[in-house]
Amino acid sequence: MVDSQLKEKVSFSRDTLDVYGDAHPKALLRSIYEEGDYLKSLESEHIVSSDQFNRNTLLQLFRLAAKYESNPERFSTPLKGKILISAFYEPSTRTRLSFESAWHRLGGDIMSITDRATTGIAKGESLSDVAEMFNNYGDCVVLRDSNESSVQEMMSSLRIPIINAGNGIDEHPTQALADLYTIFKWKPELLITPEKKIKIGIIGIPNKMRTVRSLLKLFTFFPDIFEEVVIIHDGTNESIFEKKQLEQLQNSGLNIKITTQFNRTLPTLDVIYINAIAWVGNDYESFGERFVMNNQSPLKKEAIILHPLARGEELETSLDETSHNWYFAQARGAVFLRMALLTCMCQRMERVMDVI
Ligand code: CP
Repeated sequence: MVDSQLKEKVSFSRDTLDVYGDAHPKALLRSIYEEGDYLKSLESEHIVSSDQFNRNTLLQLFRLAAKYESNPERFSTPLKGKILISAFYEPSTRTRLSFESAWHRLGGDIMSITDRATTGIAKGESLSDVAEMFNNYGDCVVLRDSNESSVQEMMSSLRIPIINAGNGIDEHPTQALADLYTIFKWKPELLITPEKKIKIGIIGIPNKMRTVRSLLKLFTFFPDIFEEVVIIHDGTNESIFEKKQLEQLQNSGLNIKITTQFNRTLPTLDVIYINAIAWVGNDYESFGERFVMNNQSPLKKEAIILHPLARGEELETSLDETSHNWYFAQARGAVFLRMALLTCMCQRMERVMDVI
């Protein structure tokens, strides 16, 4: 390839990255003052729910993620000598691979279980006994299990930290962390000039979708950045909130609005978060055909779309080539966010905090 062709290719890639939402983590890094002590609260902690966090810990976690993302080559071995037990008993593309990618990028080793039938569970072994064994073999567990209570059952005998990577319709806290991290990378100024609030629309069902439930919980720590949080649903579900769930959101100071007016609401939104899958029992329910977004949707020019993925009919590929596509950047950034969380949980912060 001649020089001029190479130059053109490189500049095209840069433009493409900018256009398609490869946000600037350095801007976020500069927007958050380093106060690493807040991250100590994550040392050896189990991560089960978004409720466990607070504003300062979240900001420092996002800062560390942005530090990793700004300089991915610089931090190669903070988890050297540590072993992750990656146990996924329900299908996953992003969560399992991004956790494993994060761990590898930090220099650790991994043992992976993708089918519970290959463990003693098939012989009737209790989760508590399996967890007792995990204590001997690894330093951290990531668990996805359709059964809501499995993570709690394992915690009863675990002495190493566990991360809930999705438990039925309950929670998926690290997805929510990645989602909020993306919003702050898109607009770091939200932390500096909070009077410039954003209006976010959530197309989903908060009491059935774990990603939505966990994300809304994280919003409660930042009510000042949202002008309005609009939940858009099609009115066919009896209830889209549990009573306590809605109370928690309203008590935090969030301005929650609920509507069935999809097309009328879309042009007013700065961020659209769309999800159409609820994992219920051993299968998923799809709500994707009811609200569909494509490159003809009436969006603000600057609006961004987030989606935890996997996508279905609700998010057409015609949007992939537009500046509204931040869902791919969201999935990419999840690796750095998980790197930050794992570093803290495994008590290896001192190996990265002083590196510029
Ligand atoms: N977002 C998410 O949980 O995707 P996976 O099901 O592919 O892990």
